[in-house]
Amino acid sequence: MCGIIGFVGKKSAAPILLEGLRRLEYRGYDSAGVALLDEGSVLIRKKKGKIDEGLARLLKSEPVAGNLGIGHTRWATHGVPSDKNSHPHLDQSGKIAVVHNGVIENYDALKQRLLKAGHTFKSDTDTEVLAHLIGVHYEKRHGQNGKNGGENPLTQAVCDALREVIGTYGLAVICAGQPGTIVGARRGSPLIIGIGTGENFLASDANAIVAHTKKVVYLSDYDVATVTSDRFDVLNLGTDTATVQISNLEFSQEDAARGRHAHFMLKEIYEQPRAIENALRGRVDAEGATAKFGGLNMSVSEMRSIDRIVIAASGTSWHAALVGEYLIEELAQIPVEVEFAHEFCYRNCPLEKNTVLLVLSQSGETADTLAALREAKRRGHRALAIVNVVGSTIARESDGGIYMHAGPEIGVASTKAFVSTLAVLSLLAVHLGRMRNLPARRALEILHALEAVPKQIESLLTQNNSLKKIAKKYAKAEDFFFLGRGYTFPIALEGALKLKEISYIHAEGYSAAEMKHGPIALIDKNTPTVFLVPQDSMYDKTMANLAMIRARQGPIIALATEGDQAIKKVANDVIYLPKALEPIYPIIATVPLQLFAYHIAAARGCDVDKPRNLAKSVTVE
Ligand code: AGP
Repeated sequence: MCGIIGFVGKKSAAPILLEGLRRLEYRGYDSAGVALLDEGSVLIRKKKGKIDEGLARLLKSEPVAGNLGIGHTRWATHGVPSDKNSHPHLDQSGKIAVVHNGVIENYDALKQRLLKAGHTFKSDTDTEVLAHLIGVHYEKRHGQNGKNGGENPLTQAVCDALREVIGTYGLAVICAGQPGTIVGARRGSPLIIGIGTGENFLASDANAIVAHTKKVVYLSDYDVATVTSDRFDVLNLGTDTATVQISNLEFSQEDAARGRHAHFMLKEIYEQPRAIENALRGRVDAEGATAKFGGLNMSVSEMRSIDRIVIAASGTSWHAALVGEYLIEELAQIPVEVEFAHEFCYRNCPLEKNTVLLVLSQSGETADTLAALREAKRRGHRALAIVNVVGSTIARESDGGIYMHAGPEIGVASTKAFVSTLAVLSLLAVHLGRMRNLPARRALEILHALEAVPKQIESLLTQNNSLKKIAKKYAKAEDFFFLGRGYTFPIALEGALKLKEISYIHAEGYSAAEMKHGPIALIDKNTPTVFLVPQDSMYDKTMANLAMIRARQGPIIALATEGDQAIKKVANDVIYLPKALEPIYPIIATVPLQLFAYHIAAARGCDVDKPRNLAKSVTVE
C-alpha cells in the first residue's frame, strides 16, 4: 500500500511533506514524490528508491517553494518502481497533480478512451489515467463554473471522474487553477483529514501528521473532502451528506518515533511487555473469574447463542487466528474455523444462523480482511474485529470489537501487535468460556498466567545477546524449518514468516508430526530446524519428532522449557523459555523467534524495517 500526505497552510510545504513521507515510508518505499503549488504552477519532484536516497536528495538539489502540496510513497501495483511511475502524476494539461493509493480496475478502458481523444501518457500507472480523467472533467466544470461559479470545480471534477472509476482509491489532488485547495477522496484505502490552526492536512494514516495535530477526521468510503488552510468540507458520492466526526489521536509523536533502537522492529519487540499490559488493562475481572470488554456490542444472551466462530485474517494475523482456534475451542468449546480472509470471501463458506465472523488485523486496513468482513455482513452475520489502529476502516465497519492498544507498529514485520492479539484472544476465550462450562479455577489460572506474561517477556529479552550469538551461527543458511505441535504449531508458522520476510531466507513452518509424511526428505546437515518443544502435553511426542530430524543430521535449535536437561543432548543450540501454562506458550515462544529472525536479517545486512517487496498494510486484494 502507499502513503499519502497533503498540506495547506502558511508554512513552506516541502519540509512538512518530506517529514510526513518519512513517517509513512513503512507503508511503501519503492519511490516517493511531491507536487507543490507555487505562483500558479504545479511543480513536481519525484524519484525511485527510498526517500533518503531519492526524493530527499532531489529536493536538496532542486528545492521547491509553495505552502500547498501533496506527497506520496509508493508500493508498486501497476508499473515497475521507476522515476516515471512514481507519484504524483499530472493530467494532460500539467496543471493538475494526483497521488493515489489503491487500484483503478477499469484503468485500461479509460486509458484507451483518453488515447483516442489525443491524450499522451508518460507512465504505466493507473493513477496517471485517473489524473487525466480528472483533468478532462475539470475543463468541463471550470468552463461551466466560469458561468455559474459557486461549487469548487476541482471538487466537482474529482466527483465526476470517480463516478467513472471502478476500483479502490485514497487520493489527493491539487490544481494550478485552484490555489489554496486540496481535494481528497477515499474508497477502500484509508484517508484522514488532520485539523490544524491556520493549516490543514490530508494523510493515509495518522503517523504522518501526529507531529502537527491530534485532531483528525476519518473519511469514509465515497467521501470527497475539500480542504483549505482554514476549513474543510466533506460530501459523499453515495449519499451527498457525509458524517463528519472529529476524533483525537491516542498516541504521540514519540510513540511513533524509533528512539534509541536501531530499527522500529527491535523497538517494537522491546515494547511487548507494555503492549501486553495495555491489552489486558481493565479487561481482567478476577472477582468474576472472567474477562470483560466494552466494545463487543453483544448482549450476554447473544454471546451465549454463538455456536460457531469463523476467524478470517491474513499473514501474521492469520497465525494468531490459528492460536485463537485452539484457545476458543479448548476454553469455550465453541467450534472455530480459521480462514484466509481472501479465501473466505470467494469460496461461499457455509455460515449458520449463530455463526459469528471474527477478523484480526493490526492495521485495520488490509483489503482481503476488510472484504471478508463485508462479505459476512452482506450475508447477514455479525462481524467482530480485533484491531490495533483506532478508527481504521475495519474497526469502523465491524459490528463490535476489541482494540489491541499496542500503539503504532511501524516495522513491516508485525511483532507487538501479534502478541497483543494473542493476549486479547486468550481473554476472549475466557470470556466466552465462562458463559459456558469453563470453571472459575481454570479461568483464574489463565488470567493470572496472562498477567505474568509481561515480566516473562522482560526476562526473555535479557537473553537478547545470547540469541544474537545463536542467530549469527545460522545466518548463512539458505533453508530453514520451524516445527511445533498443538499450541506452538501456529508459532512455528509465525517464526518462519518472520525469518523469511526480513532476511529473505526460505523458511517453512510445519507441524512437527507431519514432517514424517514427506517434508523430512528435505532435511540434511545444511538445513537447520527451529524446534518448539516446551514441556507441554505434547512434549514426549515432539521429542520423538525431534529425534527423527536429528537422525538425519539436521541441525536443531530448540526452544525448550527452563530446567529441561534432556534437550541439551539432542539439540545443537537451546533457547530456554520460562515455565508457562500451555495456552500461554504461543505468546512466550514468539519473542525469541522474533529476535532470532531480527538478528539473522541484521547479520545479512537486510533492511529490517522495510524489507524488499513488502508494505506494512496491504490495501489491495
Ligand atoms: C506480518 O509480519 C506481515 N507484515 C503481514 O503478513 C501482515 O501480518 C498481514 O499483511 C496482515 O496485516 P494486518 O494484521 O494489518 O491485517
